[in-house]
Amino acid sequence: MFTAKELRKKYLDFFQKNNHAVLASASLVPENDPSVLFTTAGMHPLVPFLMGEKHPRGMRLVNVQKCLRTDDIDEVGDNTHNTYFEMLGNWSLGDYFKEESITLSFRFLTEELGVAIEKLAVTCFAGDDTAPRDEVSHHCWLKLGIQEARIAFLGKEDNWWPSGGKHPGPQGPDTEIFYWTGMESAPTIYDPADKRWVEIWNNVFMEFNRTTDGAYQALAQQNVDTGMGLERTLMVLNGKTNIYETELFIPIINKIRELAENQDTISERVIADHVRAAMFLLADHVRPSNVDQGYILRRLIRRAVRHGRKMGIKGNFLEVLGAIVIALYQEAYPELMKHPVALLQAIQDEENQFSKTLENGLKQFRKLEQELTATGNKMINGEEAFHLYDTFGFPIEITKELASEVGFVVDEAGFGVAFKKHQELSRQGSEQKFAGGLADHSDESKKLHTATHLLHQALRMVLGPHIEQRGSNITQERLRFDFPHDQAMTAEQKVQVEKIVNEQIRRDLSVTWEELSVDEAKAKGAIGIFEDRYGDRVKVYTMGDFSKEICGGPHVDHTGELKAFKILKEESSSKGIRRIKAVIGEAAL
Ligand code: SER
Repeated sequence: MFTAKELRKKYLDFFQKNNHAVLASASLVPENDPSVLFTTAGMHPLVPFLMGEKHPRGMRLVNVQKCLRTDDIDEVGDNTHNTYFEMLGNWSLGDYFKEESITLSFRFLTEELGVAIEKLAVTCFAGDDTAPRDEVSHHCWLKLGIQEARIAFLGKEDNWWPSGGKHPGPQGPDTEIFYWTGMESAPTIYDPADKRWVEIWNNVFMEFNRTTDGAYQALAQQNVDTGMGLERTLMVLNGKTNIYETELFIPIINKIRELAENQDTISERVIADHVRAAMFLLADHVRPSNVDQGYILRRLIRRAVRHGRKMGIKGNFLEVLGAIVIALYQEAYPELMKHPVALLQAIQDEENQFSKTLENGLKQFRKLEQELTATGNKMINGEEAFHLYDTFGFPIEITKELASEVGFVVDEAGFGVAFKKHQELSRQGSEQKFAGGLADHSDESKKLHTATHLLHQALRMVLGPHIEQRGSNITQERLRFDFPHDQAMTAEQKVQVEKIVNEQIRRDLSVTWEELSVDEAKAKGAIGIFEDRYGDRVKVYTMGDFSKEICGGPHVDHTGELKAFKILKEESSSKGIRRIKAVIGEAAL
């Protein structure tokens, strides 16, 4: 029997013994990555360092990272997919490459976890016009004793990360490790289509950067980025056939079964997955709302509520399940214990709110179903789906699920059009970022990122020292900054903030950074998040005499490059949190 705790510890210890520095998990909400809503892999917070910046902790890193992937949401309910999951990851930033990475993974699996080599199969990149067939990895696996018949070569969809190689950002070919979960002994020949082979680890050899115009450039350094799924690995090591049979889910599943009138495997898995994800999002300060991260959280909670009702669970149940999630994870993730009552209250509030409209929404759906059946139509149009969303709070997944249960489909594109028409979805909002992507470190986003630091400091001067970053998001066009403040800013305060930021731009302050210990950074008055994000040494960015902030970067060299700064909007983002959207350069003139 392996426990999650043991597996995390063994992993960190093994790589630490092999000279890797242990990093803490970053938040599920990326601090400086404009292109995604969530941290979807351990490499996300490391993008600047994969691109060549020096990491304060060195060239070999390891951690256990909280991740959330919403693009797998339709798969939740099968044996191996989650929205929230933990990723065990190790990195080489221009240090070791393919051979050592593969050898370390192999040694960890066989020596530390005692995995029998007969249970393993691997895939390598087959080669195309971007990069050649990966013979180095191939030979390395053979040398370690993996049989030729257990090695498959696949293309960019399978053996490249991010899959397909279509997103901008650091990337490269990968080699994936699969574990045999079938009852009978593993077949001699590995068949990639056989689902009993479960992928547990992905070693990516990041040596390219794809630019926004689609060109592949060689990165300044050859990096390794690996990711091993904790839930899946726990499952295979303990001889289970699905992740919900592991200790991380059993107490949640048992409670659902106890509360439910009708048992349903898919529904109980969806509920268990979504409640866990929701609790971790809440712990990372996300609250249900109609945009961005808050909207995803809302969708997860509402979908869990609807599956609960489907199973005949009476009354509120998410709070009880949320408390089990806290109990299961409080030791590994103490953030769940910082404000447990508030987190449980938040999940219950959302459940209450949705419960009020769910029943009427279901009635409306049944009415629609009858009308469509009478006319022989099988498609719920966009306006109708939007009506269910707008009036009854049905996220599109819920309408889609209800539709598929009775053999209907939903015009999703039409829903999108209706959604846009009603201006509920901001241009840079959820749907676009739902699919994921990688950090954009273009000049424009660097400038906006620098402007964010100036804004942060200016807000502290105008509104007070309680201002801190609660979320930041940068697109090519604008920055967005969330901060705790109880009332709307006055027109005068906004003008004052703009004036202060523009003054710093006019002064053309130089932007420099240094590595400091957390204590030194605090002593120097740096602002920013003091959580053990990069371990005990952090990067502190200084902008002249104006701002000092802990941050991974990157930034421009001089504030003058920003040219001008203007606040577009100041609004409420969620309870007690305000949101500013601002622009720089020509757009601010
Ligand atoms: N970034 C790679 C993945 O997510 C390896 O961690 O699979």
